Amino acid sequence: MKKLVLVMTIISFVFIACGEKTEEVADQSKVGVALYKFDDTFISTVRAAIEKQNDDNGKMAALNFADGQGQQATQNDSIDTFIAQGYNALSVNMVDRTSAPVIIEKAKAAGIPIVFFNREPVEADMKSWDKIYYVGAKAEESGRIQGEAAAKYFKENPTADRNGDGIMQYVMLTGEPGHQDALLRTEYSTNAVIAAGIKIEELAQDTGMWQRVNGQEKMDAWLAVHGDKIEVVFANNDDMALGAIEALRAQGYFGEGGKYIPVIGVDATAPAIDSIANGLLYATVLNDSKGQGKAIYDITMALAKNEDPKTLPYTFDNGQYVWIDYVPVTAENYEDFK
Ligand code: GAL
Repeated sequence: MKKLVLVMTIISFVFIACGEKTEEVADQSKVGVALYKFDDTFISTVRAAIEKQNDDNGKMAALNFADGQGQQATQNDSIDTFIAQGYNALSVNMVDRTSAPVIIEKAKAAGIPIVFFNREPVEADMKSWDKIYYVGAKAEESGRIQGEAAAKYFKENPTADRNGDGIMQYVMLTGEPGHQDALLRTEYSTNAVIAAGIKIEELAQDTGMWQRVNGQEKMDAWLAVHGDKIEVVFANNDDMALGAIEALRAQGYFGEGGKYIPVIGVDATAPAIDSIANGLLYATVLNDSKGQGKAIYDITMALAKNEDPKTLPYTFDNGQYVWIDYVPVTAENYEDFK
């Protein structure tokens, strides 16, 4: 008897669970969202934006997020599963953007459209099917904004040129090697300083793989070698910039003695905005996760429902690319981005 009651209870739970699900799931599209890894500050904000957009749209999609854990093989397995389970559309943040052809081929064979984001497949891969799209931001623009901020600081503060040699001595914390944002932010930030009429000298450059702890370690090491010769710190993202700030604080910067150095990041994450508010981070660039998440979601949903994404209010560059603008963020306007 006891067993029977237990079985009945389990069955009714299952029914309740299914009942609830069916109610919510009516007409839902199955959408797989593959992230290069869950443990990334900026990517987490894009994920939250995609989820919010789905909530705001009455949960039109059953969203399934897959953690690539920084391994392309792991991500490929998740995508294989999405395809085998007949998902309606995919949103993909590649681990290794040069591996896009493998994924495109499989999705194309199964007729499942893909919206890539944040890690841009090369042009030839994007051209290999008309049911693939890319949502991102022009990395050149973020680099240029960083460089302009550094040039502005240098021009407005004569003591910024510590050794008075008329040259900006800087260090550069780069993101993951091969990532378009790492390559282009590095190049365009310093180009913008030169374009502003300031000579530059790189004292050190190394990858911090987008991570705060690496930013701190590299900066520690650079301070040990170059000390006060460093006049500007560029970081390809905010997490590394905030790590560098920790290392600088340990050497007496940003304290009572008034020792200061401009550190410039990208993303405008919540901790970065706080850091600007506290007079630490000099500037960052809004990498608009809300705008990107919304566009990724809207386009993926149109594809999942077999509708034409081109009817959405986005500009499709070359028919396949949607670009979301970067915005400069400094002490003057950070409150708008809280
Ligand atoms: C960049 C962002 C980095 C990191 C990276 C991951 O756009 O600035 O912080 O999230 O994407 O691909």
